[in-house]
Amino acid sequence: MAIRNIVKEGDEVLRKISKPVTKFDERLWQLLDDMAETMAEANGVGLAAPQVGILRRVVVIDVGEGVIELINPQIISAAGEDVGPEGCLSVPGEWGIVARPEKAAAKAQDRNGKEIVVEGEGLLARALCHEIDHLEGRLFRDIAQRMMSAEEMQEMEQAEQETGEE
Ligand code: NI
Repeated sequence: MAIRNIVKEGDEVLRKISKPVTKFDERLWQLLDDMAETMAEANGVGLAAPQVGILRRVVVIDVGEGVIELINPQIISAAGEDVGPEGCLSVPGEWGIVARPEKAAAKAQDRNGKEIVVEGEGLLARALCHEIDHLEGRLFRDIAQRMMSAEEMQEMEQAEQETGEE
């Protein structure tokens, strides 16, 4: 496993459409292992392959319940709405208020090519949508209701702690 360099906003690769994965081989497994390690090291909850410069439809997510690997993922259902703060490892120091579905389900393949379905609520639903957007060259900035600086984000977190909200 190896830590890969995370591409930052402004790099063209983040605006390109990723290609489907057709070979479920050791090269893919190496990419998945590296992405999981890179995400963990950066304290992220998700990472898409274009963020490490690879235009393939590969995503890893970890909302604190272990790493989920998604190959060729597609959202198949979404319900409700959750408006909340969101960030991205490719857009350091900035957050945005983004409306996402409260619940979402994605179908995908696992690292061996087997079909899987992942259902999520809250943060997991948000991460599924955010990471799949990366595969289409979309960043959360594109759909944010507004952007927030690190200072604003800190103030929001403090206010939530004081009121005892989650
Ligand atoms: Ni992102």
